Amino acid sequence: MLHSVAFKGKHFSTLATIFRDHKLAKSKSAFVCTDCGADHSKWQGQCTACNAWNTLSEIRLSSATAARKAKSSGFAGSLSTSQRLSEIDVAEEPRISSGFAELDRVFGGGIVIGSAVLIGGEPGAGKSTLLLQMMCQLAKSQKSLYVTGEESPQQIALRARRLDLPTEHLSVMAETSLDAIMASIDKDPPKILVVDSIQVIYREDISSAPGSVSQVRECAAELVRFAKQRGTILILVGHVTKEGSLAGPKVLEHMIDCSLVLDSSDDSRYRMLRSRKNRFGAVNELGVFAMTDTGMKEVSNPSAIFLSRNESTSSGSIVTSVWEGSRPLLVEIQALADSNQYQNPRRVVVGLEANRLAMLVAVLHRHAGIAVGDQDIFLNVVGGVRITETGADLPAILAILSSMREREIPRDLIAFGEVGLAGELRPVSNGQDRLKEAVKQGFTRAIVPYANRPQNAIKGMTVVAAKTLVEAVEAI
Ligand code: TYD
Ligand code: MG
Repeated sequence: MLHSVAFKGKHFSTLATIFRDHKLAKSKSAFVCTDCGADHSKWQGQCTACNAWNTLSEIRLSSATAARKAKSSGFAGSLSTSQRLSEIDVAEEPRISSGFAELDRVFGGGIVIGSAVLIGGEPGAGKSTLLLQMMCQLAKSQKSLYVTGEESPQQIALRARRLDLPTEHLSVMAETSLDAIMASIDKDPPKILVVDSIQVIYREDISSAPGSVSQVRECAAELVRFAKQRGTILILVGHVTKEGSLAGPKVLEHMIDCSLVLDSSDDSRYRMLRSRKNRFGAVNELGVFAMTDTGMKEVSNPSAIFLSRNESTSSGSIVTSVWEGSRPLLVEIQALADSNQYQNPRRVVVGLEANRLAMLVAVLHRHAGIAVGDQDIFLNVVGGVRITETGADLPAILAILSSMREREIPRDLIAFGEVGLAGELRPVSNGQDRLKEAVKQGFTRAIVPYANRPQNAIKGMTVVAAKTLVEAVEAI
């Protein structure tokens, strides 16, 4: 077997290493699930950790990793000391501002020095644009390096000039070889390093193609190690495929401190930046940006933009207040119910969970006595917003009823609340703040779950507190 490796001629010079590793570690490859990142020693059709099918991909462990593994199993390392938790020095992590308030909010109040960040998103979401804008500003005070593997320095310079960014201080390097990048940053370590994108970076000693799990994992690990040792802020860009994953984010999420996703819907110029994991702040924090012809602009009052401006009312539309990260957001939910005698009724949902609609329809039938079995129902959240919380249950039902009966819901009314299977209205978090935001945007009436009723009256707002879905429907 050794001979065959040698005669292929590829690894002739490293024969000794191969031989040593072969003796120390039986297997030099592992199988990693691209969905959850779990390791398996052999290939199998289904990942036993997350139950996903066909997600295992082979990675070659580098010789150093293999040797380490073999060594650590023999407890041969030097002694390390442990400390009482209370004796450990804690200081607030030093942070720097990115120059965008919305971005700082998603980071949990600025970027922590020495942290490793992954920004994922579909191609064209605006990751490169946002980072270029940020880096040009930061470069004024911090040593910054933008490594690009996808665009030429000319393209980046052109974009920066078109966006009218300060270009004097930012260094740009077009490179995809990790060794070359490491050599350069090792000699002259930057304070902030962007690598755009991690999928095109490769290590020469790993035979698989750039973007494969093993390349992405090993390259990212090396960059993260560098960042931790030198106190550099590392920002990796990762592309997400249409299926919502790539050989990357999931595999990478273990080793980085903060994972952000830049969401873009095709028809909207608004971009939502969400934190999915953050070791230094809250998750699910939301920052809103707009892609304009002069780059990404932050939207500091998102409630105002998602409400349609037209004054004319129509049936099937209602405004609700959802909780996004640490602030309320007012969005409009639209429903269209249309009678259908011939086939299975259609249920189409955009921006909400489809299964939730099925449940709401059943509750509506059983507890309010309203059958919608002969209706096609379409639900849409205006502005490309995606609602993941249960507070949208009540407004969704009210919108459906409004459309079925062709009765308009007053423009100055908002509703929120979770609907339980017994037809009861359940409270949602931060009811007070949701109501206050509605008042700020000029709403004067609200239907809320009884447990969310305000303790003290809110000026300018009449609140109807309903205990059940039937009560809420009657109130309207
Ligand atoms: P980009 O930042 O290159 O996306 P990513 O790095 O996430 O793949 O953004 C490219 C898109 O943004 C492209 O469709 C054009 C658009 N765009 C604007 O609308 N205005 C601008 O000023 C810029 C720079 C890009
Ligand atoms: Mg890009």
